[in-house]
Amino acid sequence: MRIIANNSGPGARVEEFDLRQPLEAPDFRTLLRALGNFGVLCFPRQDLDAAKLAAFAGRFGTLEVNVANMFHAEGLPEIMHLSNMRDAAGTPLGLSDAGQGWHTDMSYSHDIALANVLHAKLVPMRDGQPLGDTQFLDMHAAYEDLPDEVKQRLEGRVAVHDFEKFWDVMRLRPGSSRGPLTEAQKARKPPVQQPIFRVHPVTGRRVLYCNPGYAIRIAGLEPAESDAMLAFLFRHQMQAKFLHSHHWTPGDVLMWDNIATIHNAVADYGPDEPRFILRAQVMASLDYGALAA
Ligand code: OGA
Ligand code: MN
Repeated sequence: MRIIANNSGPGARVEEFDLRQPLEAPDFRTLLRALGNFGVLCFPRQDLDAAKLAAFAGRFGTLEVNVANMFHAEGLPEIMHLSNMRDAAGTPLGLSDAGQGWHTDMSYSHDIALANVLHAKLVPMRDGQPLGDTQFLDMHAAYEDLPDEVKQRLEGRVAVHDFEKFWDVMRLRPGSSRGPLTEAQKARKPPVQQPIFRVHPVTGRRVLYCNPGYAIRIAGLEPAESDAMLAFLFRHQMQAKFLHSHHWTPGDVLMWDNIATIHNAVADYGPDEPRFILRAQVMASLDYGALAA
């Protein structure tokens, strides 16, 4: 296994490692550390079926099963399909608008996510260039770069994260097939509080854990002050110096840290430029500090 840092920004490539093999403890620890240190790991030229992807991702924690989601691999509800494709009858083959806006997966949930693992089977192309990048911002760096007075002011504070915020942004887009959340759906996804700064379990360093997709308010601040502070944090974290855009190649397995990055799916491709990706969501269910030591 060879880990090569990207030239600029966060992220690294992991070469010379076939993810179909069982992941032995030393390699697991190397990858866990790399995930914390680089934020995004690309394993190029992989060829995994849904079961192999689940086996690899599942080494890092419990895989989240999205009960409401119809788009999953046969017999493996923990492997979701992201796609803009349809079958001959016009039935969608996957979730077509996942992640189109800056967010952190599962920040709206009491139990947070460690990582996502996506495996590209088809990548939309135009004029020889891949479309549908997934972009990342480095929240270790964003925390470190905050003014000291903001670090002090927000230390120990929590923000409220609400699933409905991102849902409604997506729903109000032209062409969205999403309806408003029902009261029953809202009751299953009540807003939750998350610390604004967390100590990353692998690196032991603080990260800014806040994102425009789900964070709606800072607890304990007046509404106007909370709005202004969130607007500041969103502007701050969105600076180009923290950015890494992943240009997909079919066969890529992309694993990202959901504690120390926020991400965005770029929707720059059309319905006849097919994209098909297998996806696993790894919950932060293990003691990563001990496992990375
Ligand atoms: C996700 C997501 C990004 C993409 O899977 O959580 O945001 O580029 N996807 O598909
Ligand atoms: Mn996402």
